[in-house]
Amino acid sequence: MNATATSPAIRTNDLLTGMEWSPAQTRELLHLAADVKARPDRYRGALAGRFLALIFEKPSLRTRVSFEVGIASLGGGSVFLDHTVSHLGEREPVGDVAKSLSRWVNGIVARVFKQESLSQLADNSNVPVINALSDLYHPCQGFADFFTLEERFGNLRGLKIAYVGDGNNMCHSLLSIGSRTGAHIRVATPPGYEPDPSVVSEAKRMARETRGKIELLHSPEEAVADTQAIYTDVWTSMGQEDESASRAAAFADYQVNDKLFSHAAADAIFMHCLPAHRRAEVTAEVMDSPRSIVFEQAENRLHMQKAILLTLLN
Ligand code: CP
Ligand code: NVA
Repeated sequence: MNATATSPAIRTNDLLTGMEWSPAQTRELLHLAADVKARPDRYRGALAGRFLALIFEKPSLRTRVSFEVGIASLGGGSVFLDHTVSHLGEREPVGDVAKSLSRWVNGIVARVFKQESLSQLADNSNVPVINALSDLYHPCQGFADFFTLEERFGNLRGLKIAYVGDGNNMCHSLLSIGSRTGAHIRVATPPGYEPDPSVVSEAKRMARETRGKIELLHSPEEAVADTQAIYTDVWTSMGQEDESASRAAAFADYQVNDKLFSHAAADAIFMHCLPAHRRAEVTAEVMDSPRSIVFEQAENRLHMQKAILLTLLN
């Protein structure tokens, strides 16, 4: 993406990038999500009397609903601030928004364009700030996806996953979180659409520690060879609508279809963060096939985000 990656945040009371947590802490988070899913009653009331502000500069179905339902099911309350028409920082500085909100709420969940808006929120508030998608990262989705993969395969270490498409926020979060789990991730993008080099180098450094593997390629067929999961995302992310024609041309050979699946492991699964565009990045045959676990991914947003809230707010 066009934005520049910021260095990984060290703060442990915010989730701004997904790189805040060590491999061991990531493992704990995955365990907690599994327990939240298996025994939801155990956590009812855990956020009683706690309130969160949800600020969204971009549209959302899954993230908004899963956060609102998740917070309510933990006994907390939320206030949705619709910034999809007026951008954050236009009416008043982002720092003043953060300082005001932190007088009333116990946490801020924000979907933003600039990663810097999240840092400004975090730097000016004394409550946890959670990235609900930025131009650079989508950590809540990434954590939920590795939880979904762990449920499916039992073990993430050495699991072969291919990401085919744009080196975007989703790709960045799969690299940064996947490298913490010991997974083997191959990314295939058209030339010029590779993931941000600083995200890749941090993921490679982390993969050395966890004995994972990160590979960047341009050939989708090579990337998916023998992989157990193929992941794709939209070719045009929110905010890039002006580029949709040039992107459709650049990504034409990167569609995930049955032919591409013939190069993967026989029982390979299909993943997508959604919303998906059938006939663009994925065919209906793949998207609506038994291989597709996209709605398991969507469900697990709820359980994983409850685990994230319990970790950051308790
Ligand atoms: N995957 C995801 O974040 O979906 P929404 O944009 O609908 O929230
Ligand atoms: N890359 C996509 C993800 C949507 C959930 C976007 O940013 O629009």
